[in-house]
Amino acid sequence: MPITQLKQQPISVTRQMAAALPKLAAIAKAKGLELHHLGAGYPHPEVTNPMGYIAHKDAYFEHLAGQEPLQKVLQPLYSYTDTLGPASTREMFAKIYGHDFNTRLDPELLIPTIGSSGGISQMCSLFERSGEKVAYITDAPTYAGFISRANLYQKARIYSVEMDLEGPSCEALAAQITQARADGYTVAFYYTVPDGHNPGGISFSEQRRRDVIEVLRAHDTLLVEDAPYSYISFETANKRPKPFFALAPEQTVHLFTASKIGLPGPRIGFMYTEAKIELANKQTVPLNQLLLTEASANILLHNPEALRGFEAFLTDEKFSARQSLWPIANEKNQIYSENRQILLDTFEQEFARHKDMFHWTKPGAGFFSVFTINHPNVICNSDLTDKLVAEYGVVTIPTFSFYPEDARARNSKAGLDQLRLSFCYSEGIGERRRQQLQAAASAFAEAIKQECGV
Ligand SMILES: Cc1ncc(COP(=O)(O)O)c(C=O)c1O
Repeated sequence: MPITQLKQQPISVTRQMAAALPKLAAIAKAKGLELHHLGAGYPHPEVTNPMGYIAHKDAYFEHLAGQEPLQKVLQPLYSYTDTLGPASTREMFAKIYGHDFNTRLDPELLIPTIGSSGGISQMCSLFERSGEKVAYITDAPTYAGFISRANLYQKARIYSVEMDLEGPSCEALAAQITQARADGYTVAFYYTVPDGHNPGGISFSEQRRRDVIEVLRAHDTLLVEDAPYSYISFETANKRPKPFFALAPEQTVHLFTASKIGLPGPRIGFMYTEAKIELANKQTVPLNQLLLTEASANILLHNPEALRGFEAFLTDEKFSARQSLWPIANEKNQIYSENRQILLDTFEQEFARHKDMFHWTKPGAGFFSVFTINHPNVICNSDLTDKLVAEYGVVTIPTFSFYPEDARARNSKAGLDQLRLSFCYSEGIGERRRQQLQAAASAFAEAIKQECGV
């Protein structure tokens, strides 16, 4: 093969862990240890049973057919359609999502995506088209899938911003945008996960959201809001902070995914923006138009059967459009909230006397808590996480790998004192799930205490 200018991208630590897991698990098993899952960010099988989803979808299609042959409904679902997909799905979704997040969505501006990964990819590829140097601003740490996708473009550079428990530092955000431009980069956008941050294990405060918007407005920079966990919320309705797309739709590209509120397999997502963008020829156009052209060239059309299947999910047992998805979310959140409480209660019980050495985030949404270890001899690298599996049967993910390169250059120890713990997944259901999570939390606490000699 000819020599190319291509560069190989590093393999993410989550994939490395997935690859190493069978061997490590076998070592743990040989020692008679049970395997405890605090690593994977997968939706729990107890609340993602596909059988109900499929049965309701099939019944909805029958309902739509009425007295007509079913083929009449199914034919267009297996045919070419417009890139925007079925209008009925977008209209129903716009109404429900707008209701649930206290805003209004224009269904004509919703573009179907392949989950929120598809939305990330579409936003990156749009900015890559110019062939220029592209800068992405993001949090330190940030979602590993975003780092991987952004770095596919060889002229991309990530400028990251440290976070505290309320969100990113606004001074650093402004400084990084300014620096990227001074370095000759086109700043594409600031990418973040404000609710149930993965892997930060926090949700941004309402005030910080407003401050972020102010900085981005002042610096004429778009915000990409990745929102897989906006429905996986542990806050009461009146305490839930507003998403960015409700606060500043003209500044934000919102990425909805059905992966956590529904199922990841059908790969349903929508991107939504009311932003306008200035082109090279100084013409100002709706960003949505550019994204639609991009989608049309990239995927041509999203699977219409999957989209109408999601439409079925948006209807009740009588096939009327639901008013809200919160009742569905609340059923799931009962499970996630129980799991979260088991983990947090165990930490409180086991580590309360050592708060100088250990602390952890109490997430208002999502699947993750970040556990920090202040111990001079314990470094949270892959050696430690491999050891936790092989010697204690506990699967966790080290947080350092979620720090973009520039954050690690600023601070060589970035994230090396933290582990990302997920409380979303176990194999058992009901009482067995609770037992497994309790066992996982206790095994983790025991392992960490032993490693730290307390
Ligand atoms: C922050 C974040 N973005 C995107 C994804 C991928 O979601 P999707 O299945 O919608 O592509 C995940 C999955 O865990 C995630 O945590």
